[in-house]
Amino acid sequence: MPLLGFGTWQLSDEEAETATRAALDAGYRHVDTATMYRNEAGVGRGLRASGLDRDDVFVTTKLPPDREGRERETLEQSLAALDVDAVDLWLVHWMPSDSVAVWREVVRAREDGLAREVGVSNYTLADLDELTDATGVTPAVNQIRWSPALYDADVAAGHAERGVVLEGYSPFKTTDLGHPVLERVAAAHDATTAQVVVAWHVAHGFVVIPKSAQPERIVANAAGARLALTDDEVRAVDGLAI
Ligand SMILES: NC(=O)c1ccc[n+]([C@@H]2O[C@H](COP(=O)([O-])OP(=O)(O)OC[C@H]3O[C@@H](n4cnc5c(N)ncnc54)[C@H](OP(=O)(O)O)[C@@H]3O)[C@@H](O)[C@H]2O)c1
Repeated sequence: MPLLGFGTWQLSDEEAETATRAALDAGYRHVDTATMYRNEAGVGRGLRASGLDRDDVFVTTKLPPDREGRERETLEQSLAALDVDAVDLWLVHWMPSDSVAVWREVVRAREDGLAREVGVSNYTLADLDELTDATGVTPAVNQIRWSPALYDADVAAGHAERGVVLEGYSPFKTTDLGHPVLERVAAAHDATTAQVVVAWHVAHGFVVIPKSAQPERIVANAAGARLALTDDEVRAVDGLAI
């Protein structure tokens, strides 16, 4: 799973096509969408327009909680919209009322080859354990709101101990991009503070999925993933945790 992905929430179907194409041209090899975003078809068109092989791009989509009981049908609709045979990752977007029953259906879809991996989003460590205890299958990924300000070493360690990939979302929305520590680190690398936020995720091994509708930001955010922060810089950014 590439540590850098392209977020597509709040992009219309048309915008998602252009932005996904721009992101793939800029070097992203991972795109994050969801049934709830209503832009899977646009993401799929962007993917095809890129000319890349399907296997070279990691595609994630998500099951909304109001589709409980209609899991398989919902995934089939996602695959049709994206025009792919399988997604690389299918996530339960938010905890449904019967999370174990939904998880069993999600795991079945993976076993049937419709999703290469399956995971969850917005779950606590205790919620992850409940699924493991009930089914013996631990989610491969937990996608959660995450950034330097939300950094919690115990939560990160809890995911690592369980072998669950921590995928962060809303990296910029939850960050003060004018914070003096970010400004200082950015200046040392002739970079932007947004690029430092992306670089901090990569330095920790957190997956990061910044969204932008603007071509120049799409390119610049990707360059952040190639920025190597020193250990001292990573620790300084850790210190932004509230
Ligand atoms: N699982 C979940 O429940 C969940 C929830 C939220 C998000 N997500 C996923 O995570 C992705 C990222 O989160 P997000 O979209 O909420 O927020 P985000 O990526 O933190 O921030 C997006 C916002 O930051 C702006 N931006 C982008 N690049 C910038 C830069 N270099 N400098 C300053 N501002 C910049 C964007 O504006 P422009 O577009 O104008 O550049 C947009 O307003 C989503 O797109 C979605 O795929 C998942």
